[in-house]
Amino acid sequence: MRIDIITILPQLLDSPFAHSILKRAQTKGLAEIVVHNLRDYSGNKHKTVDDYPYGGGSGMVMMIEPFVACIEKLKAERAYDEIIFMTPDGEVLNQGICNQLSTQQNLIVLCGHYKGIDNRIREHFVTREISIGDYVLSGGELPAAILVDAVIRLIPGVLSDETSALSDSFQGDLLDAPVYTRPAEFRGWKVPDILLSGNTPLIEKWRYEQSMERTQKRRPDLLED
Ligand code: ADE
Repeated sequence: MRIDIITILPQLLDSPFAHSILKRAQTKGLAEIVVHNLRDYSGNKHKTVDDYPYGGGSGMVMMIEPFVACIEKLKAERAYDEIIFMTPDGEVLNQGICNQLSTQQNLIVLCGHYKGIDNRIREHFVTREISIGDYVLSGGELPAAILVDAVIRLIPGVLSDETSALSDSFQGDLLDAPVYTRPAEFRGWKVPDILLSGNTPLIEKWRYEQSMERTQKRRPDLLED
């Protein structure tokens, strides 16, 4: 899978993809993440990418030309399955959307700033608008990093234990059961005996019950259907 991210702050995205699982996905050739500096497509010597809003009002609006120049250059090189705009008024990201996107070949992700982007980009280029939750961040870069992380870890071969993505909280509508590691006792706090029993069927049953109990307590909405 290839993901092209278009941003005015490419430095913000230097680190999130350079470590651990996302780094390994790229080294293994399972994912390619390319960050583009929107200012390189401004077409003017001041590298301006924003302008005053028509009709007045506060804040600046990101201009259409730089986005279109970058998007059209990319589209001339390969076909894209989705052009995604990170925005607080998009559909709220969930595991289902991540699963769907992880099956795609090529994605473009646009990061907004200021008051927003010229609406014609959304009308004529964007195919999907995604929010990471009902709160407003100062730009789309951190939301883009979250989306890319959540999607790339689902690509087959990225996680060393392939079953672990499938047993994630949310993957099967239930939250994960609690986990423990050594020591078996710390300050008198004991790991549940069942986990030390070696009895796999009983352990599985316990985990299922714990998942169910956690979900009922913390996220009863997940059980509603
Ligand atoms: N840009 C600013 N806030 C955002 C959010 N909550 N989700 C996606 N993009 C955003």
